[in-house]
Order: sequence, then structure tokens, then C-alpha cells
Amino acid sequence: MALREIVTVGDEVLRKRAREVSSFDAKLGILLDDMTETMKYDNRGIGLAAPQVGVLRRVFVVDVGDENGLMEFVNPEIITTEGSVISEEGCLSVPGRSGCVNRPERIIVRAHNRSGEPFELKAEGLLAICICHESDHLDGVLFIDKLTEQEEATD
Ligand code: NI
Repeated sequence: MALREIVTVGDEVLRKRAREVSSFDAKLGILLDDMTETMKYDNRGIGLAAPQVGVLRRVFVVDVGDENGLMEFVNPEIITTEGSVISEEGCLSVPGRSGCVNRPERIIVRAHNRSGEPFELKAEGLLAICICHESDHLDGVLFIDKLTEQEEATD
């Protein structure tokens, strides 16, 4: 595994639509492993999407510290959303900034694992918020596009 460089706001790659994964090969496995290591480096992140390491593929990893542990999503699709909740978000690609965003309270997401097997997951709370945040990255959307109020500087 290797750390990858995190792309930050201002880089065009964060604003592009990522492409579907079509080969569930060793290269995908390496990308996922590297993304997890990069996300967990210094315990900073709870989610990381491939465009954040400069790879325009529909892939993200999430670990919000709950019983699900590390989860990998390839070609994810949020198929149902329910409720709404406002909470504070940050992003490894938007260092030093945070702000409140409105997200669904509960979602159902369909995706594939690294072997190409499909799965469906019901998520709520922080996990649902994180999955929505990471899904947005795959469409070139950042949390700062969705702020509900004036942001505050965090550091
Ligand atoms: Ni982010």
C-alpha cells in the first residue's frame, strides 16, 4: 500500500464526473488499498473518493468508526433517501474549512465490492451523510457547494 497525494480545492479533477469502473482487476484493488491508507493517515478522514487522489473513477472508501468498519464502494448508486438532517462537514480536499450541509437521514445505496459483486446497504446517521458526501465527489460536487449558512474557519 502507498499513500497518495490528496488533491485540494481549485484542482479541476475535483469538478469532473468520474467514470464507471468496468474492470474489477488488481489495479482497482491497489487503488482501494492506497485510498484507505491515505484516508486513515494521521486518522484524519472518515471517507475518501477516488477523484480526491486524482483518479476519475466511481470509487470511494468510508470508515466512520462504527460496526461496519471499512467499506468499499464501486459504482455506487443512492437509490432511496428519506428525511433530512443538517450537520457539520469537512473534507480532506478542502483543508481548514467546515460548514453545515443538509443531507438525507437515511439512504439505501447499491454498489459493487472490489470483486465486482453487487451489494445493497441501508445507512443512517453519520454513515449515510458520509456516503452522500463521497457520492457527490464522483459528480464533481463539494460540500462547500451546499452550505446552509456562512461557514466558519476551523484552523
Ligand atoms: Ni470530501
